[in-house]
Amino acid sequence: MKKLVISTGAGMSAESGIATFRDAGGLWEKYPVMDVASADGFARNPALIHRFYNERRHDLVKAQPNAGHRAIVELEKHFQVYVITQNVDDLHERAGSRNVLHLHGELMKVRALDDESRVYSLPQALEGSEDPLSTTVDTVIQGHHVRPHIVFFQEAVPNFEPAVQLVEEADIFVVIGTSLNVYPAAALLHYVRRGVPVYYIDPNPASVPANVHVIRAGASEGMAELSRILLQNP
Ligand code: OAD
Repeated sequence: MKKLVISTGAGMSAESGIATFRDAGGLWEKYPVMDVASADGFARNPALIHRFYNERRHDLVKAQPNAGHRAIVELEKHFQVYVITQNVDDLHERAGSRNVLHLHGELMKVRALDDESRVYSLPQALEGSEDPLSTTVDTVIQGHHVRPHIVFFQEAVPNFEPAVQLVEEADIFVVIGTSLNVYPAAALLHYVRRGVPVYYIDPNPASVPANVHVIRAGASEGMAELSRILLQNP
């Protein structure tokens, strides 16, 4: 089976009702990004950052995977599918994708401030508390104060190297719903081997090299079209 590597951004989850960042009405219009998603912001006002991610978690538990997420799962019948996502939601996993690599962390996890390797899943880790989706600067899990398990701006992206390796091994590479503004994620395109077909699904695509086949559509409609194309020559 061919190796199909799919890199997704916020647009993948837009039809599930999760706000994107840079579209009109996107999250970064309402919240200053350097306050709620940077290492400096966390040092300045950790309470604000806890609150911001608590709100995102409450939105996420109400959301469901959309037809685009499900179409990616369907392709596992015909391809070895690997998803690399910039999204911190768990909608790919909930749809049933088996191989998901998160570049920017995971909203439903927190980690110890004093030991990066201690990662805890919510709501299980806070079971019994009044609101097990919410943390504060005072929250203690197994004796540790915690922070969101999110890659803030100004922090390294530990999963970038494994992502590059996947892209280098891809027989087909697909990009869905990202403005290609944030590095290093946006650079993944450059690691595709020569001759490998590349598709980009986005209703408002960023400019990309001429070899990229652009499908100008939302994630669900675009995935339906891509599935038709790929299944003609699995
Ligand atoms: P952006 O908000 O920058 O871009 C969203 C993209 O989704 C745009 O290109 C839209 O055209 C597209 N889009 C909108 N609706 C769509 C739909 N229904 N189907 C498909 N695409 C659609 O989001 P990202 O590129 O993912 O990082 O942003 C990258 C990173 O910036 C995020 O991971 C986040 C943010 O700062 C962190 O918070 C660490």
